[in-house]
Amino acid sequence: MASKRGTVRVDSKDLGIGLVGTGFMGRAHANAWRQAPCFFDLKRRPQLRCVAGKDVKEAKAFAARWEVASVHPTWQALVRDSSVKLVDVCTPNHLHAAMSIAALKAGKAVACEKPLATSLAEARVMCDAARVSKAKTFVWFNYRRCPAIGLARQLVSEGKLGTIRHARACYLQDWGGSATPMAWRFDASRAGSGAHGDLNAHLIDLVRFTTGEQIAEVCGAMEATFVRSRRDGAKHTKSTVDDATLFLARLSSGATASFEATRLATGNQNANRLELNGTKGSVRFDFERMNELEWWDDTLPKRLRGWSRILCTDPSHPWAGAYWPAAHLIGYEHGFVSMAADIVRVLTGEKPILPLADFEDAFVTQCVLHAVMVSAHEQRWVRPDSFA
Ligand SMILES: NC(=O)c1ccc[n+]([C@@H]2O[C@H](COP(=O)([O-])OP(=O)(O)OC[C@H]3O[C@@H](n4cnc5c(N)ncnc54)[C@H](O)[C@@H]3O)[C@@H](O)[C@H]2O)c1
Repeated sequence: MASKRGTVRVDSKDLGIGLVGTGFMGRAHANAWRQAPCFFDLKRRPQLRCVAGKDVKEAKAFAARWEVASVHPTWQALVRDSSVKLVDVCTPNHLHAAMSIAALKAGKAVACEKPLATSLAEARVMCDAARVSKAKTFVWFNYRRCPAIGLARQLVSEGKLGTIRHARACYLQDWGGSATPMAWRFDASRAGSGAHGDLNAHLIDLVRFTTGEQIAEVCGAMEATFVRSRRDGAKHTKSTVDDATLFLARLSSGATASFEATRLATGNQNANRLELNGTKGSVRFDFERMNELEWWDDTLPKRLRGWSRILCTDPSHPWAGAYWPAAHLIGYEHGFVSMAADIVRVLTGEKPILPLADFEDAFVTQCVLHAVMVSAHEQRWVRPDSFA
């Protein structure tokens, strides 16, 4: 039985959202569902109707803070709630499959956090369930919705970069040192992998999204676990995931690509960086300066060539027009707000501003994650599409 809280206006035209998980992503998504209809014109207003978490007390505190009408004692009860039309999965990775599949079986749309699953087998079952149910699915690759990343994709598809020769992607964080205590993120049975599934998943998705190409082959993969055990209350527990994973790849056009994901790059807190080099020019992006895209136009006369810094806040940039006047910057949360708006667009028969990842699409990324692990263990070239 849900406990009722507050007096939230409910309209039959609203799109009922049920949110599972009240941690970091729970907060990011709760904010996004609230803000999306304030900034974007949507045919239906998403409304966060209910939440569930591991701890009911925590879920109640979350509901009070975010003005969510009801709290369910379990995620299963939330999935059964008839007012919920979309289940938003913001839980540790090992729970994505059970929650998404139950929601799909109940005929509900699902928006699931990344990585899609802890393993290829789990991801495959999720995709099968989506195909059978025909309900819409979405995966929160939120960095796709940075206006600068959207512009990078547009420049590539307009041919402004010519033929892509290189993609260079790295996602560097530094929070995973030996002082960081044990958490689900360091436990392979709950996370699947460490920096790899957490950060390379974003990079793989970004390279696929911006170039429009597939990752045809991977090689030279290297996983490293430097911190082998972590403080866990009074004891120490073994960390069973990689702290860093690096690999090389060839894209479908033949372009070369390199990827590096780590939680131990001191001095880099959220350096999600991408550079694309083509025959006519290059772009580069660094999330720590997320409003900017740098562009090198190699077709200019040599004396005029140089990196131009484009502030992607003009209304002509993807999503930017929904927010503030030019040069009034946006932040981390806006990627989620724009994504929530695009999800509602799809659910109401409209086109998203740029494509969203669904389970099918995220499965392709999961195949790459898997191929990299095989390459690291067997020290050989691996084709991700051999697992499709
Ligand atoms: N898109 C991004 O950039 C991004 C960033 C961070 C995390 N993530 C992903 O989001 C997901 C959640 O990560 P997080 O950082 O929010 O984790 P978190 O540890 O902050 O929160 C996890 C939440 O899951 C809930 N939970 C755990 N077991 C549960 C159960 N059995 N039933 C119901 N709720 C349960 C917990 O109560 C908690 O609220 C992960 O898949 C992670 O990879 C994505």
